[in-house]
Amino acid sequence: MIDETGSQILVINCGGQYCHMIARRVREAGVYAKVCSPSRALEELGQAKGIIISGGPSSVYETGAPALPGALWEKGIPVLGVCYGHQLLASALKGVVKPGTEHEYGEATLRVSGQDSLLKGVNDRETVWMSHGDEVVAPPPGFEVLARTETCQVAAMANVDKKLFGLQFHPEVTDTPCGPTILKNFVFDICHCRQDWRLDGLVDALKERIRAQAGARHVLFFVSGGVDSTVAFTLCTAALSPERVTGVFVDTGFMRKNERPEIERTFSARGWHNMRYVDASDLFLRHVGETADPEEKRRIIGDCFLKLQENLESELGLTKGNWLLGQGTIYPDTIESGHSQEAAVIKTHHNRVPAVQELIRRGLIIEPLRDFYKDEVREIGKQLNLPDALVRKYPFPGPGLAVRCLCSPESLELEKRPAELDKLAAAAGLRAWRAPVRTVGVQGDHRSYSHLVILTGEASLAGYGEVARVMTRKVRNTNRVAFLVAPADGRCLERGSVTRSLITKERLDLLREADALSHEMLLREGLAEQVWQFPVVLLPLTRGRGETIALRPVASRDAMTARHANLPLAFIKKLADRLMKLPGIDMVLYDVTDKPPATIEWE
Ligand code: XMP
Repeated sequence: MIDETGSQILVINCGGQYCHMIARRVREAGVYAKVCSPSRALEELGQAKGIIISGGPSSVYETGAPALPGALWEKGIPVLGVCYGHQLLASALKGVVKPGTEHEYGEATLRVSGQDSLLKGVNDRETVWMSHGDEVVAPPPGFEVLARTETCQVAAMANVDKKLFGLQFHPEVTDTPCGPTILKNFVFDICHCRQDWRLDGLVDALKERIRAQAGARHVLFFVSGGVDSTVAFTLCTAALSPERVTGVFVDTGFMRKNERPEIERTFSARGWHNMRYVDASDLFLRHVGETADPEEKRRIIGDCFLKLQENLESELGLTKGNWLLGQGTIYPDTIESGHSQEAAVIKTHHNRVPAVQELIRRGLIIEPLRDFYKDEVREIGKQLNLPDALVRKYPFPGPGLAVRCLCSPESLELEKRPAELDKLAAAAGLRAWRAPVRTVGVQGDHRSYSHLVILTGEASLAGYGEVARVMTRKVRNTNRVAFLVAPADGRCLERGSVTRSLITKERLDLLREADALSHEMLLREGLAEQVWQFPVVLLPLTRGRGETIALRPVASRDAMTARHANLPLAFIKKLADRLMKLPGIDMVLYDVTDKPPATIEWE
């Protein structure tokens, strides 16, 4: 049940991408956890039995970096610092923190030397997930080093008597398999928490919350047909009745093939008549088609939605003060938009553009799912009896294909086998090219926007992935690596270039076809379960005749971290051959980067 009165664990948010996942993992263990900012740590402490300090984008030695009141260490309450939190703990207690010799992103092997208390039950060698630039080089007096990695000498440290612990890696992400053991050791053995937090009765509690927030007001909802907006809309309608909730499906022109008929079927099967359909593709395309910049696209899309909402206001007879705007925003969307004071902006979620932020400030937004992660949203959807196919649907971003249709403001040449990249690729018998197409990444809690690296030559999927991992670590300004699947001969990139292009209906139609074909084949070959999400991206990279499709299937649990999906190479090649038959497709790439350092979507 949701208990807002007190928490057993207080998670202090220093702006890390995974901060809320810490709270989520603690809740999964059956213990209520609450998140707060560093400046409110003492006030929010209440009866908490333990404190976890999250990671964050800052360096402890920077002015203005998040700091904690000294009194916090003196309370005798157990503290666990994670990543930035670990560095903060070290520097506050007179240890030494310095920029690392190498930035460490992604997987690392932990060598454990102290297996009691925090690391009880953890093997001598464990795979852990790292994402940091700085590191603790000397622990504070009274602390012992519990574990290290090849490049990080103090990967875990403890002062057991004072119950103070630090971890440079992230125990909260699924890519640290021993993470749940470590968090449970902290929560139960060290903090002695009760296991009394459950999700039973969640739907009723959420409906109650919606009724309390809405009062007598109506709710207007943009429903995209994706899991989040559909579950949020269903929840609001169930809480307030169809008379008080209006759903609007807007065809932005950035939807996937056959999206609207599927949505119509879902809601008419429920007997609901509170959904309207609006074709606004001209409006969106006219505005978004003017920019090549991903953040600008997101801002424009958010603004177009608000423009439509203003029109709908008068059309639906909504008067000032008697309605709210409903949104299907979920936890990661709020975090990655830099929602907390300390977090760096990775991508501005379309639900978090400035105009929406203003509505939030004025209390005019209702977001029933904003505290939940995707798998919890699916669980809520199940409790609402939504069809299984819908609840299990792959996530699709609000801005839709607009952020999967990459643009270039000018025509540019491909950088042919730059030495620093080619050397790393050559170690695996591959070659590397740098395309002048930039994509978004998240590195050490910061947003990056860097040029794409393309590998050519034959390797296993794991082989390509390993080169990607090394490259993104060692070469600055590299956040995404893909290999060329078709055509088979990589020398075609000698003629590769990027053409000036913005978003057009023709390009979107081509992308829609490629997207539909890719998903159909995945389903037909029985591989859908191996993939958490499958963005298909169009980029204006050409060897003279058309454009390039990049395949980005990922395995993930909640989008905060992801791995490139391990699909059979034979399938990837078969799919690429089919895509190459689409008129206008010149090349096919497969993205082999994990998140971090690349985000799931390319923009
Ligand atoms: P990234 O690309 O940041 O994506 O790794 C994480 C998850 O969020 C989805 N995403 C969005 N969803 N509006 C949405 O509703 C957005 O603006 C947006 N941007 C990214 C993305 O598809 C992935 O599941």
